[in-house]
Amino acid sequence: MIKYLDQLEKDDLKGKKVLLRLDLNVSVADGKVVDQFRLEKIIPTIDFLREHDAQTIIISHAENKEGQNESLLTVWNYLKGYFPVEFCPTYFTPEAIDKLLKMQDKDVLLFENVRNNMGEKENNPEFAKKLAQMADIYVNDAFGVSHRQHASIVGVPQFLPHYGGLLMRQEIEHLSRIFNPQHPFVFILGGAKFDTKLPLIKKYLEKADHVFVGGALANDIFKARGYEVGTSLVSKAAFDTSILENPKLVLPIDVTVAKDDKSVSFKKPNEVKSDECIVDAGPETIEQLKNLCNDAHSTSSGQAKTVVWNGPLGNYEKGFGDKTESLAEIIVEMTKNDIETIIGGGDTLASIHKLGLNDSFTFISTGGGAMLDFLVNETLPGLRALEK
Ligand code: 3PG
Repeated sequence: MIKYLDQLEKDDLKGKKVLLRLDLNVSVADGKVVDQFRLEKIIPTIDFLREHDAQTIIISHAENKEGQNESLLTVWNYLKGYFPVEFCPTYFTPEAIDKLLKMQDKDVLLFENVRNNMGEKENNPEFAKKLAQMADIYVNDAFGVSHRQHASIVGVPQFLPHYGGLLMRQEIEHLSRIFNPQHPFVFILGGAKFDTKLPLIKKYLEKADHVFVGGALANDIFKARGYEVGTSLVSKAAFDTSILENPKLVLPIDVTVAKDDKSVSFKKPNEVKSDECIVDAGPETIEQLKNLCNDAHSTSSGQAKTVVWNGPLGNYEKGFGDKTESLAEIIVEMTKNDIETIIGGGDTLASIHKLGLNDSFTFISTGGGAMLDFLVNETLPGLRALEK
């Protein structure tokens, strides 16, 4: 059983140094935070710690899409709009020790990117111990990175009393509902990397009434069915054909194809030419998804009672985002009808935020890879570390 931060009283936290692991890995551009969603979600945890007179030491990673470490200075500037917070650029130096010693109750100190330290990704026990020595209590509120066996996720809790944060509690409570969903249950999966998402498809072909597979994932299935996929993105791994005949598997009935990055047209998936590239679902697929959600009758009849969605339908980065946005609007309508709607995944969220739909779903997970791993394994390394 994980113990959560809100099970602690003021007496437990007053004057205590709390090492708070957050996932502050957000996109930044031109010195500004582009997407505040993850940051807004951790404010209640920091408010709670300040209200309980704790001394909060925040550590997080930040990495860009090329896998390079980023500075947390931009995030620091953003957080300063919510509460007073100091920044420490180095770990374990006289400067860092001085800042830690000077902390008063309610103070918040943000450390620079924890992945600047060699020991973090390799889960070095000495490094984990040194992190732990900075504090009295450890709180993990970084669901989005709890699928990583990194020192600040799985190492530190071995050395300190440990708790899940308030966001962690929300993530686990909402996402766990998917393991015993209300039926009919429609699972919609998009994005790329078929081989990594195959376990998820297999698991939810058993649990859900329909599994719609779109985005670049569908290209692999079209290819396995013997269709021409032209220059479309496909995964390199060998295809597991066991899912092909499953009647619950639903694929796009039309696709948007681009030729020479210029002319764009809609086609049936089996009409794609060798010089064309599938870049999005087509308009008929949007109608198909609407029908699927409103009449999800493979094991029971009527409107879906649970809809889970992860991953875009099109190549969002190249400007093919409108079908993903149409799908978001379908799911928003479901939410208005009291259907449980749970969504997640970095690129999915980008479209939601663009449309200003942050509050229009039952739950939006802050996890990308972590959400997918949790949905497959029903736990994560970071959660197991908190359970011990
Ligand atoms: C994410 O953005 O999914 C999390 O912050 C994890 O980041 P990582 O893939 O760099 O571990």
